[in-house]
Amino acid sequence: MQTATDIEVVPSGAALGAEVRGIDLSRPMDDRKFGEIVKIFGEHSVICFRGQDLTPEQMRGFCNRFAEPQKLYMTHYAMPAHPDILYISNVQEDGKVIGYADAGSVWHTDGSFERQPPWATILHAREIPVTADGRVLGDTLFASAVAAYDELDDATRASLRGLRVRHDVAGRRRKTGTATEEDNAKYEAKEKVIHPLVRTHPFTGKKLLYVSDGECDRIEGMDDGEALALIARLQRQIVREDRLYRHRWQVGDVLVWDNCAVQHLATHDYHGFNPPLRRHMWRITVGHTDVYE
Ligand code: SIN
Repeated sequence: MQTATDIEVVPSGAALGAEVRGIDLSRPMDDRKFGEIVKIFGEHSVICFRGQDLTPEQMRGFCNRFAEPQKLYMTHYAMPAHPDILYISNVQEDGKVIGYADAGSVWHTDGSFERQPPWATILHAREIPVTADGRVLGDTLFASAVAAYDELDDATRASLRGLRVRHDVAGRRRKTGTATEEDNAKYEAKEKVIHPLVRTHPFTGKKLLYVSDGECDRIEGMDDGEALALIARLQRQIVREDRLYRHRWQVGDVLVWDNCAVQHLATHDYHGFNPPLRRHMWRITVGHTDVYE
């Protein structure tokens, strides 16, 4: 049994992100140790465990410690025999891509278009794209929506109070080009949901900007042109370069991020190589959070 004293935390140096060392996620851990992980997660919003090699059962077991997994709507990319695990992958089998290759192609928070969006996402890197000259591609960028709100002046905060935004998973994705026809059909079929633009984090109580230009396209009661301009302005505030955390993947990484606090973008810079570069991840989203101002 692993205990809380084994843990070492190495902050990324950016506004969010930390590596958590001294833990083998395939082995049992006591509640105190898991409680310590949740505390570190609350402080850093994105945490990484390097060098893991989990079975699907072990991955599920770890994720279940956080909360119940969400049901996938991209059911065509579920791991056979493990319907909670989504393949984020460009790997082809029998001439067909087996995973959700378009994932993360715009700034977003996972499942913001759900009535009860997930608390956390857990992504386990099984294969990462490396060029012939050794460059690792496929980084993921993270931005703090809490820091973005904190830095707003009082007048701007007051102007955002009470606004409600429409979340549409199709959003700008219709234009990314990496989505398959089946993906686009799933996007279009998904219900569009309205949430408050300013959100209170359900666990930390901090206020944050819950809006992304990748998936939000309307603000209730506002002219569309004005709404899109405001959404674009807030997006620039959220993804300010000096506050970003760039995750450079290694095989075996287990990355956990807080969808109530951060947005992310997958860089998608590994397409078009010959031979193709493979990127293969397992993803589980957990928790069903309420969204309120
Ligand atoms: C995602 O948006 O959940 C996937 C991110 C990634 O593949 O880096």
